[in-house]
Amino acid sequence: MDRKQVTIPDLYQMKKEGRKISVLTAYDYPGAVLAEAAGVDVVLVGDSLGNVVMGLNGTVPVTMEEMIHHLKAVRRGLRSAFLIGDLPFLSYQVSREQAILNSGRMLKEAGCDMVKLEGGAEMAETVRAIVDAGIPVCAHIGLTPQSVSKLGGYKVQGKDLATAQKLVDGAKALQQAGADLIVFECIPSALAQAITKAVEMVTIGIGAGPDCDGQVLVFHDVLGLTTRKTPKMAKQYLNLMDLAGAALGQYVSEVRAGGFPGPEHGFAMDPAVVAQLKL
Ligand code: KIV
Repeated sequence: MDRKQVTIPDLYQMKKEGRKISVLTAYDYPGAVLAEAAGVDVVLVGDSLGNVVMGLNGTVPVTMEEMIHHLKAVRRGLRSAFLIGDLPFLSYQVSREQAILNSGRMLKEAGCDMVKLEGGAEMAETVRAIVDAGIPVCAHIGLTPQSVSKLGGYKVQGKDLATAQKLVDGAKALQQAGADLIVFECIPSALAQAITKAVEMVTIGIGAGPDCDGQVLVFHDVLGLTTRKTPKMAKQYLNLMDLAGAALGQYVSEVRAGGFPGPEHGFAMDPAVVAQLKL
C-alpha cells in the first residue's frame, strides 16, 4: 500500500508522540528507490556526496550544480519520503539574496521539500531570510563538515560548558529564526538529549546518541559501499563492497573464460537471412 507523503506537521507530530524519525542520505535514483522501499521518513541529499560518491576528501568543493543534478535523480525515485537538499559551501554564506536564490533553486528545479545549511547563531538571520521566502529550513550544528578546517578536524563538539552552551544558544536562535529541523552531528548524547527536550523543532542526530527525535546515517556507510573506515557514529548493516566486488570479479572471469554471455542472453535470427549476407 502506498504511504502518504510525509510533511513537516507529520514530523512535529512524530516528535510529540515520541515516534522516532528515520533519515537516510541518498544521491541517485536507485538509492532513493531503496530508501523509499525501506520506509525511510526523510531522505537527505547531503553534500557528503563529495566524500561517498565523488571520491573527494571532504564536502567543501561540492557545487550547487552537482547538488541539483543528484537531487533531481533522487526526487524521481521518491513517492512519500520528505526530501531535504543540502546547500553546499559558499551557496548561502555570501549574502541573504544568494542564500534565498540557491535555496529556491533546490525547490524549483529539484523538487526539494526543505533545504539544510550548516552553522549556529551566526546563521540565524540567513535562516530567517530563507524561511521568510517560503522555504523550509533544516539547520545543522556540532561537527559541521564545511568548517572542518576551522574546527581543526572531524572532532566531537560541545564537550565543555562554554562550547555546549554555544550549541544550546545556537539551536535556540535557529529555532527562533524559523528552522523546523536541526541536525546534531557528533555532540555528546547528554547534550543532544537536553537540547531535544528544550526545543520545539525536530532534532535529528548523527553521533548524538539515542535521544534525538530521529537519526540520520549516510547510505554508503549503512550498506558498506565505501572504502573509508566506518565512522564510530555509524553502523554498517552490510558489506556491499565485498559482495559487489565478488560479483564483479565473477563477471570478469566469465567474460574471459567465455562463460558469459550464454545463449539465453542473445537474440535469435533466421539462419536463411544470415546465409544471404554479403560478407
Ligand atoms: O552531508 C550529509 O550527508 C550530512 C549528514 C551526515 C547529516 O550533512
